[in-house]
Amino acid sequence: MLADKRILLIISGGIAAYKSPDLVRRLRERGARVRCLLTEGGSQFVTSLALGAVSEDKVYQNIFSLTDENEMGHIRLSREADVVLVAPATANILAKMAQGIADDLATTALLATDKPVLVAPAMNVRMWGNPATQDNIKTLSRRGVGFIGPDEGDMACGEFGLGRMSDPNDIADALEDFFRKGQPLDGTRALVTSGPTVEAIDPVRYLANRSSGKQGHAIAAALAGLGSATTLISGPSHQPDPPGVDIVRVESAAQMLDACAKALPVDIAVCAAAVSDWRVEAQAGEKIKKTGSRKTPTLKLVENPDILASLSQAGNKRPRLVVGFAAETENVTANAQAKRSKKGCDWIVANDVSAGTGTFAGDDNTVHLITKDGVEDWPKMTKTAVAGRLADRIAEALGGNT
Ligand code: CTP
Repeated sequence: MLADKRILLIISGGIAAYKSPDLVRRLRERGARVRCLLTEGGSQFVTSLALGAVSEDKVYQNIFSLTDENEMGHIRLSREADVVLVAPATANILAKMAQGIADDLATTALLATDKPVLVAPAMNVRMWGNPATQDNIKTLSRRGVGFIGPDEGDMACGEFGLGRMSDPNDIADALEDFFRKGQPLDGTRALVTSGPTVEAIDPVRYLANRSSGKQGHAIAAALAGLGSATTLISGPSHQPDPPGVDIVRVESAAQMLDACAKALPVDIAVCAAAVSDWRVEAQAGEKIKKTGSRKTPTLKLVENPDILASLSQAGNKRPRLVVGFAAETENVTANAQAKRSKKGCDWIVANDVSAGTGTFAGDDNTVHLITKDGVEDWPKMTKTAVAGRLADRIAEALGGNT
């Protein structure tokens, strides 16, 4: 959900600055690009070397450094970000921000920025409670500065109370909430199935298919990017985890169905998984041996539950919009239209997966969107682009913020 968000992280001089490399890692794990700006005080608690290593970027410190000004002036620094985050924010930097003081690179960037500013205060409980600090907080809140924490707890100074910097994961959550607000799918929940399912024959062997999970994972990322709280239920796949998405890993169709049922209620369900149609009726508890067997074993297959159909027919738990995929090798749109009415879903994304199209495991997809109003032929595009366009269509269909 923080994918490609640019965060200017200002680290001011409090003991909680020791948590900032961890904060950088938590933000980057969720896809953010983090640039660090370290105050003189901050540099007493954490080194620019550590911050540079975890952010994999230059750390900015000195307003009078000609090199910094040549490479990236303080005005550009403050504007080439989607949000400015001050963490930890000391009582001192909050006071300077409230007064408009610009006596170092951090405060100059804060005064020059036209981007939203969020602060995660960290200070002694009495400093937090001091009327001067409380007045500054009111001033800053009135001007639109967002506050994350502080939390209550034991402090480095030995006292207990309000003033502890929020946990880095909670700060990252707060940033995700911040970016979700105003997004077209803010307030919705989505589930996406992705990848193949594998059905065990015995503890060693299984039935599987060629699905890579690329398309489903990209859809989960796109829905989360539009602000939907998204759960991705994935069969075995080598795709990287999409940032900002809850991931449930499963193997068999039965496990996938179970995970989908647990994820309900949701507003949106997209079934992109290539679910195995059959499973072996009686899984062998031990490896089936070749030596000593009297004849080649015969596998008896039974049909798996249809996850898309069961979500489409989930009664009062039915998602508002259910989207299926149709993997076809012939009569693509006609077969997909028949699938739409048979399973009872709202839309079907039909794709040709015949040999030679390279759809399975490839980066591109040529799809047809089938709705009650007819068939839309989309040009060939990357799976990421298909995901983005589908997510936009879903947001339109659900009518913006809910
Ligand atoms: N699907 C599902 N559960 C199954 C089988 C399929 O949820 N047991 C979903 C897929 O995720 C996809 C849609 O149903 O969204 C169509 O899958 P597809 O493999 O194209 O069709 P099948 O229903 O398996 O029919 P057929 O194999 O006859 O083409």
